[in-house]
Amino acid sequence: MSKLRLAEGLVGVSEVSIPIGNSKESKESPGSTWPKDLIALEPGETAWDMVLKKIKELSDSDCRDAFMVADLGVLASRHQVFCQALPRVLPFYAVKCNSSPWVLRVLAALGTSFDCASQGELEQVLDLGVAPSRILYANPCKPVSHIRFAALHGVKLLVFDSEEELIKVAQHHPGARLVLRLWTQDSDSIFPLSSKFGARLEVCERLLKSARDLGLAVVGTSFHVGSRCQTPHNFMKAIADCRRVFEMGSRIGHDMSLLDIGGGFPGEEGSDPEFEEVAGVVNAALAQNFPEGSGIEIIAEPGRFYATSVCMTAVNIIAKKAVLEPGGHRKLLYYLNDGHYGTFRVFPREPEPRMPIVVKELCPKPPLFPCTLFGPTCDAFDKLFLKEVQLPELDVGDWLVFPFMGAYTSVMSSTFNGFSPTSICHAVGPELRCLGEEEREWAVSSSHQDLNLLRGVGG
Ligand SMILES: Cc1ncc(COP(=O)(O)O)c(C=O)c1O
Repeated sequence: MSKLRLAEGLVGVSEVSIPIGNSKESKESPGSTWPKDLIALEPGETAWDMVLKKIKELSDSDCRDAFMVADLGVLASRHQVFCQALPRVLPFYAVKCNSSPWVLRVLAALGTSFDCASQGELEQVLDLGVAPSRILYANPCKPVSHIRFAALHGVKLLVFDSEEELIKVAQHHPGARLVLRLWTQDSDSIFPLSSKFGARLEVCERLLKSARDLGLAVVGTSFHVGSRCQTPHNFMKAIADCRRVFEMGSRIGHDMSLLDIGGGFPGEEGSDPEFEEVAGVVNAALAQNFPEGSGIEIIAEPGRFYATSVCMTAVNIIAKKAVLEPGGHRKLLYYLNDGHYGTFRVFPREPEPRMPIVVKELCPKPPLFPCTLFGPTCDAFDKLFLKEVQLPELDVGDWLVFPFMGAYTSVMSSTFNGFSPTSICHAVGPELRCLGEEEREWAVSSSHQDLNLLRGVGG
């Protein structure tokens, strides 16, 4: 058994190891213990090179199945950017966003904590050996059996936003440390959440008193400005609201010590607003409402920010039709081997379609046509995007690659119409390096000792 170790100093969490198999045997060698879905990039090789290599391999065969490549090294750099931009905030990665075991293993080793939404996610993270104290059960509306599971396994931090939830928790997890989720203005976020979750300020006092009367401890507040938040100022308002609820809670007798600023951070570099702008607003709001030295622990639940740029999806054109529109305009329908019921489930909810990279040698400025991209099933709603995209004339067997496919993609895949979920290859980039047998000693910094429990995973 050998491990991956993060390049020292890269993320400020030095000497963290992840077991992966025997590094002395190359991935090509017979009997290699490298997991089949984990591939080491050669020096100088990138995940994009791997995509092209795999496309070439598949194109030489009859099987041109869609596939994803996940670059685990990207996670390390996203973590570094997050921690540098928000130095007072501890990330609790939102597992729902991309729950690939390799993603979770790398993040656990980097020292992030986890936001789980269900018993299934709690089990997945606990099975990696992550300490229950590094888990937040952040779904405000939980099945009783999942609450009992959390209680049984020592997961104490639970989010709530209603009286009914308090009653369930009092009965099934009286030792919980509760976090009150507040309603936020999120109507201009691409994926708003406030119609479903969050207590309005007017009801917070009643909820805090009910918790006290039920003998429950409320330790802080949380909010979520909606995924792909477009208005950084919404963080400012939400953090100011949290401050008011902290004061309320303290007056009522709760020991308010935890502020959770949720997710909503942009996923792609160069997005509008940029992450740096959002982080600037958050830091200013924290300084104003929860100044350094106030003794408050500040956490966040980023998902998209970490996962978006980790994955690329390569899809193949399995069928094609050309139609003439009234007026003689040519339109193309491309049928792809991944779609709405696979990794593209959330994209019809985005305002604009994503542009793929065409993997084909074309003349310098090929004519473009309005194209509808359909998935492989028999459902006419199985389109990648609601709008058409402008693409050149392509053929059955050609490949398209979509970058930035790590967030809310493979986690949502189904087997509708009998199509298998797109397979994922995990690439180990230059930020992660392989250690030999002789370096078996775990060198885990004292603050991350519980990572020792990862020993034995993945070999
Ligand atoms: C409770 C909770 N936390 C965190 C997240 C992650 O949000 P994002 O991917 O925008 O960072 C979500 C997304 O839906 C969520 O519902």
